[in-house]
Amino acid sequence: MVKVFRDEDRLSPEYVPSRLPHREDELEHLLTLFSSFIAGKRVGQVRALLTGPTGTGKTALTKLFGSRAEELARKSGALLRHVHVNCRLHRTLFSVLRRTIESLGITLPTRGLANEEILHNLMTYLEREGMSLILTLDEAEVLIREEQDAVYYLARIGEERSEGSRISLVLILRGLEGLNVFDAGTRTMFVTNVIHLAEYSAGQLRDIIGFRASEAFHEGVVTDEVIEAIVDQAGERGDARYAIELLWRAGKFAERDGSLKLTAEHVRKAAASIYPAIRRESLHYLSLHEKLVLLAVARYFQGNDSPTMTASQLNRLYALVCEENGTMPKAYTRFWEILQKLEDQGFIRIRVLSEGIRGRRSYIALPEIPASILGRELEAILRKGGALSHDARDEPSP
Ligand SMILES: Nc1ncnc2c1ncn2[C@@H]1O[C@H](COP(=O)(O)OP(=O)(O)OP(=O)(O)O)[C@@H](O)[C@H]1O
Ligand SMILES: [Mg+2]
Repeated sequence: MVKVFRDEDRLSPEYVPSRLPHREDELEHLLTLFSSFIAGKRVGQVRALLTGPTGTGKTALTKLFGSRAEELARKSGALLRHVHVNCRLHRTLFSVLRRTIESLGITLPTRGLANEEILHNLMTYLEREGMSLILTLDEAEVLIREEQDAVYYLARIGEERSEGSRISLVLILRGLEGLNVFDAGTRTMFVTNVIHLAEYSAGQLRDIIGFRASEAFHEGVVTDEVIEAIVDQAGERGDARYAIELLWRAGKFAERDGSLKLTAEHVRKAAASIYPAIRRESLHYLSLHEKLVLLAVARYFQGNDSPTMTASQLNRLYALVCEENGTMPKAYTRFWEILQKLEDQGFIRIRVLSEGIRGRRSYIALPEIPASILGRELEAILRKGGALSHDARDEPSP
């Protein structure tokens, strides 16, 4: 069989590339912020906050930063480890701590212990070994929502230790709104070092895809035209994950065709295959009212060119969609919780903007799926599912 891929694994979601084009400045910025800590100087806890929409390289950047930091520490004779924890998988402080200990490859008792004791033991271990730790909490909004004090607590550790903290923190959030639950004092602990990763421009995606293609495919397999076709598809979203997924899938279609090169048609097939395949399953797991809210979002964006809608526009449309489906809309607080769940799962994006004396307003965008496909899928699921019967089970009334 002809091979288009040199190393397909290099396009897998876990793979961290050796460099990140167009994130060099941010990497440098992080390394500078932590430089003294990395060199083993006892400077107290360093905290940084990384924000940015989906696929802008937050996870990849912190992982690359972590390995660079470990390398730099080694060169200066210091002992440093970086641990990356995904809070979508580890939603409590206890789970984060257990994961951290596991990642360090050490054995410390955790069973039946309170968080304070585990943390105390971890600090003692680090002090004894002369080791420093940079802990990255990725998708931290989940941890903040589940256990508000956890982040606050981690930011305070070491205050009472004579040596100061051997644990520094990198927090990853989609946006600064993630900190809104905290009081001003806690917020300032994090907002002094904010690095925001903006959506990639088409030109930046072109470079990124070119680089990633050169790592994963044999030479000459991915032509400039194909890269252009991918940028055309992905440019609007500025999302590198989507662009890379297109590249990988286009490669799979080329492989299946026994083709020596990727073509624009392979890219189109890749694009057509992505949306329904990624999300259809996760749509099924939504509760009835999550589906109805999402359907209202899809309806709006099918009929509107505007990139965002307001929460109150959505609330009105949602009431209509409920009526169509013969069910009562949930009260506003519950509606708002549903929005946050949908955002957690990446279906929608919420931005809270303050608008002078009128106060704050929430805007909703649909980053992932074309509204038409989303609407069609949801309607099919709602029609088929006998959705109303799920109501009592899925949605306790507020
Ligand atoms: N500048 C870049 N150069 C090369 N690859 C990149 C770059 N930025 C992102 N990627 C790749 O794009 C994919 C998505 O990046 P990443 O997972 O870091 O995004 P994210 O900001 O963490 O998104 P999310 O908010 O959804 O978690 C990964 O495969 C990553 O390796
Ligand atoms: Mg990420």
